[in-house]
Amino acid sequence: MLRSNIPSYEITPKTLYLSRRDFMKTSALLASGALLAACVPSDLSQLSRSPSISPTLLTDTLTSYEAITTYNNYYEFSMDKQAVARLAQKFRPRPWEVHIDGLVRRPKTYGIEDLLKRFPQEERIYRLRCVESWSMVIPWLGFPLANLLAEVEPTSDARFVRFVSILRPEEMPGQRDPFFDWPYQEGLRLDEAMHPLTILATGLYGELLPNQNGAPIRLVVPWKYGFKSIKGIVLIELAAAQPKTFWSTASPHEYGFYANVNPNVPHPRWSQATERRIGELGRRPTLMFNGYEAEVAHLYTGMDLTKNY
Ligand code: MTE
Repeated sequence: MLRSNIPSYEITPKTLYLSRRDFMKTSALLASGALLAACVPSDLSQLSRSPSISPTLLTDTLTSYEAITTYNNYYEFSMDKQAVARLAQKFRPRPWEVHIDGLVRRPKTYGIEDLLKRFPQEERIYRLRCVESWSMVIPWLGFPLANLLAEVEPTSDARFVRFVSILRPEEMPGQRDPFFDWPYQEGLRLDEAMHPLTILATGLYGELLPNQNGAPIRLVVPWKYGFKSIKGIVLIELAAAQPKTFWSTASPHEYGFYANVNPNVPHPRWSQATERRIGELGRRPTLMFNGYEAEVAHLYTGMDLTKNY
């Protein structure tokens, strides 16, 4: 039997009950066997059996909990990745509300506990590829953004989704840096936001999300550079026009709106052809759309990906 045939629902509930230590013991198993099943939602199950995508997934091993939670980009706290975890300790991720409004028929505000109750949490093991050319493999807990968007009913004019992070300079020392246009903002086209691989994550390694990883809720879009995966979300707004984003405002000639992982389009200051997987020696080739090409390439048919970077 192909290992990729193991449905994620047969594996996920068990991992939810495991302590982190037990989880880590089983992580090698999960990475080799469950990875493919876990990261391909049921309606893509046909694709999960395709030999064209399985080899790249089966060789990936989970990055350690330690590395995922101590090597972080979260500019609201610091530009020093190794200082973020410490500086984020005093941040209060509860109580928390997420507002969803704009071009929707039913705008809603959810408390974080309502979100956790309302949307069953699934495990998704995804690669995360930072634009700075390092990468990790992270076992997220979360739910498809599409499920949330379905509840608010976007109108026919809605084409984009804008995401805004929390603004709390008293708890987030990096937000006192006037160089940046706070709060952090990101955006997706509506079809990207509705894609079954796009999730809102609320945990990792079977535990609630640590502050430094974007507690209590963050976006994860695995085929795009990590900066699209915005942390600490308080507002999701449906819009007709393409929203401005934190990085394309700070440095427009370096960071575009789409930010799809693409080994053939170099960053103006470095190549994107290879990456350093945290915890491994040497470098590995970067995969088109971070290895999710079979699932997402159709979203960009007819687009020049060297211009729409
Ligand atoms: N979200 C906010 N609000 N602020 C940030 O600075 N950094 C981004 C993204 N989301 C960032 C953010 C970048 S550049 C990356 S690579 C990922 O978060 C890192 O996520 P991780 O620390 O969980 O690995």
